[in-house]
Amino acid sequence: MKITLEIQRFDPEKDAAPHMASYQVEVEPTDLVLDALHEVLWHQDGTLAFRRSCGHGVCGSDAMEINGVNRLACKVLVKNLGSKITVRPLRGLKVLRDLIVDMESFFNKYKGMKPWLITQGEEPVKERLQSPKERAVFDDTTKCILCAACTTSCPSFWANDEYVGPAAIVAAHRYIFDSRDEGAKVRLDILNDKEGVWRCRTTFNCSEACPRGIEVTKAIAEVKNAILAGRPNLPVA
Ligand code: FES
Repeated sequence: MKITLEIQRFDPEKDAAPHMASYQVEVEPTDLVLDALHEVLWHQDGTLAFRRSCGHGVCGSDAMEINGVNRLACKVLVKNLGSKITVRPLRGLKVLRDLIVDMESFFNKYKGMKPWLITQGEEPVKERLQSPKERAVFDDTTKCILCAACTTSCPSFWANDEYVGPAAIVAAHRYIFDSRDEGAKVRLDILNDKEGVWRCRTTFNCSEACPRGIEVTKAIAEVKNAILAGRPNLPVA
């Protein structure tokens, strides 16, 4: 089948502003949007720039706005989008070139959540045990692949890029609710800041955008409740 692929292009060395470019691409219905982008890159215009790595929805590098919705290009079949597909870079992050955005501020916010296990006292002589019930509390937020689809679909983030954003809160949630972790208070204090969780207006864009199906808005609500309660509400093992 033949599709029209409209791609937002921007070369900072030549263009004053981004512009749309149109390509006629021959694809199989079972091809992915990523395949169509490769077709342009490899056979029509070798200057097209976009990120991708695994091609299987694992690395999170090819998140972009596809027909107005944040998706992974490697997870969307062209046959489900019709004969005209419009692709733009993620909204709210600086465009470096074509579909490539500057992820530095995004990853700085992620690091700001201290995404590692914080413990006190002596190291145990054997592993830190956790029951299946305790593990289940934060299982959903372990699925994040840091693609930024959630954060860049959030109107609060578009309005104020100082807001830590859904992805950083998801990262914090994964540790705050881990029964082995003792750093919840530090993270909850960070997220109780004016650029923290209270910027969330519960629009659910983040949950809809997540390619891993994480209930992002629910996770944010659990963090808000933990702040109000003064601690995470962990289950009894
Ligand atoms: S290329 Fe890795 S998630 Fe799409």
